[in-house]
Amino acid sequence: MRYPEHVIEEIREQSDIVSIISEYTALNKKGSSYVGLCPFHNEKTPSFSVSEDKQLYYCFGCGAGGNVITFLMQKENMSFFEVIKYLAEREHIKLDETYLSEEEIQNNKKRSQLLDILKESARYFHYSLRAPENEEALQYLTNRGLTMETIKHFGLGYASHHFNDLYQYLRQKGYSDQILLESGLFLQGKQNGNMIYDRFAGRIIYPIFDLSKKVIAFGGRVLDGSMPKYLNSPENILFNKSRNLYGMQLAKNSGASYFILVEGYMDVIAMHQAGFNQTVASLGTAFTPGHAKLLKRHTKEVVILYDSDGAGQKAALRAIPILRSEGLKVKVLLLQEGKDPDEYLKTHGYDAMHQLLEDAPSDMWFQIRTIEKKYDLTLPEEKVKFLQEIASVLAETSSSIEQAIYLKEISKTYDIDEEAFKAEMNRHYQTGIRKKALRENEVSPRQKKQVFNNEVIFLANLYHYPNLARHVQAYLKPEFFDEGLLYDLAKAILDALQSGKEIDMTYFTTHYPEVEEQNIISHVLIYKDQRYEDVALLQKMMTENVKRLNKQYIERRLKVTQDVNEVQNLLFQKKELDKLNIDYING
Ligand code: UTP
Ligand code: MN
Repeated sequence: MRYPEHVIEEIREQSDIVSIISEYTALNKKGSSYVGLCPFHNEKTPSFSVSEDKQLYYCFGCGAGGNVITFLMQKENMSFFEVIKYLAEREHIKLDETYLSEEEIQNNKKRSQLLDILKESARYFHYSLRAPENEEALQYLTNRGLTMETIKHFGLGYASHHFNDLYQYLRQKGYSDQILLESGLFLQGKQNGNMIYDRFAGRIIYPIFDLSKKVIAFGGRVLDGSMPKYLNSPENILFNKSRNLYGMQLAKNSGASYFILVEGYMDVIAMHQAGFNQTVASLGTAFTPGHAKLLKRHTKEVVILYDSDGAGQKAALRAIPILRSEGLKVKVLLLQEGKDPDEYLKTHGYDAMHQLLEDAPSDMWFQIRTIEKKYDLTLPEEKVKFLQEIASVLAETSSSIEQAIYLKEISKTYDIDEEAFKAEMNRHYQTGIRKKALRENEVSPRQKKQVFNNEVIFLANLYHYPNLARHVQAYLKPEFFDEGLLYDLAKAILDALQSGKEIDMTYFTTHYPEVEEQNIISHVLIYKDQRYEDVALLQKMMTENVKRLNKQYIERRLKVTQDVNEVQNLLFQKKELDKLNIDYING
């Protein structure tokens, strides 16, 4: 089933492409359109253009293009219907359930049932934390320095150590075993008649929220030293570990100039309690590109604040390139005293932490310091090896502006000749570029330049050079183009030439929703190839194309038609065409 056209069109019309794309790249008004750096490939000078009138975008560099819907399909990896739902929600447009397929209705029902179960459970856990018989749990949290206010703010709770209290409670409310098992809150044993019991029994509960502050999962910590220390809900239709960050629902409204990335639940909570509301953590999983994308939507800079042990250091080194590839500025703070931020805050407080964060070294200096630890710099041969290694890191990962800055700082810090270091770096530079190109191709196949066929290129020129197009329109018919999108585009362009009216974009959004189709539409309607400002070149291109398309059409028709009159006309048309050598200069 599909949404009706008017619904899709209303959603597209309400969703301003300029403001949505602005969340991904900075756009500046230039003439009738907006320009910025392309979010689909790496570039240093802007070749990405957004047309507010046409509600289309197009990159003159890589050829990526489309409308607001295909933009989100590609950037957020959503399906057409997911984008429609997302935009409808954003613009407060109600989507009637009758537009949904049976499967979608069932999924929505399940999703909202699961949300209810998690909400009920979160309340139940929070309530249990205050029950007198669970005093030990509350004691544990207050002993760790959390105030009642913080406990409420994060909705912390406790799962009774009885093996299936929560299960009994929710069964009473009428939920089926099947949906309860899908919630991730329960486990089913193989013995005792497939008994169902509470996954988190006996644990402190940390609810995990999505951005709209709905509970989508839980983390649970043991009260003692038993293993595993933390458990998380398994992934399901509500919870995707690599797309959610703990604390994000609060951090996104912090208004802070940088975000802080820590390792765990307690670090997030302690940091928020101390006043660092912009702190988040990945959830019992390594930092992923999905996490970086989420951060990128809310900030430009991230300070990594991981445990100062070896594991924390390694994790920081792994997170750096992931954050960088989203275009985020990265700094790394490793605490010297106290293992983690939670402990550090307890002994040193807000001001000391704030100062450390402000002074945090860049990710590059963090990498340099990490490498430095491997060598004894008092020995000349070790120092050479050290410099070689940092030269290769610098050559491989940084932009040329960054390189120039670090070149100066490094030669000052380690007392070496700038030119000598530069030579060393350049030696690595070529391989660096190659490696970088390879990596970028891996992460983003979109970087390959889009190739359009002759018909598409011809239609673009026809649209963008109307004065000359008027001279050839008598020799063109929409039928010359493939049925479907190209036919419709040709027809719209030829009609617009005659009537002088704008093209009806609504028709093209609703009839051609696919990414590839929208890409072609945006190429034709936005890409004006400046080379054809040269009139002689334009004439040549037009003449050749008109002849070619006309001949192809005549051949096609001659093969199928039974109509004697048509055959005669076609043969006449063919003869006339040979004489055609349109001269527009004086025309
Ligand atoms: P830590 O062991 O540093 O936990 O693990 P923590 O947050 O400092 O916890 P406290 O202070 O002992 O309460 C960091 C993060 O790694 C995940 C959790 O998300 C934890 O917050 N983790 C850790 C697990 O998923 N499972 C484990 O067994 C341990
Ligand atoms: Mn800790």
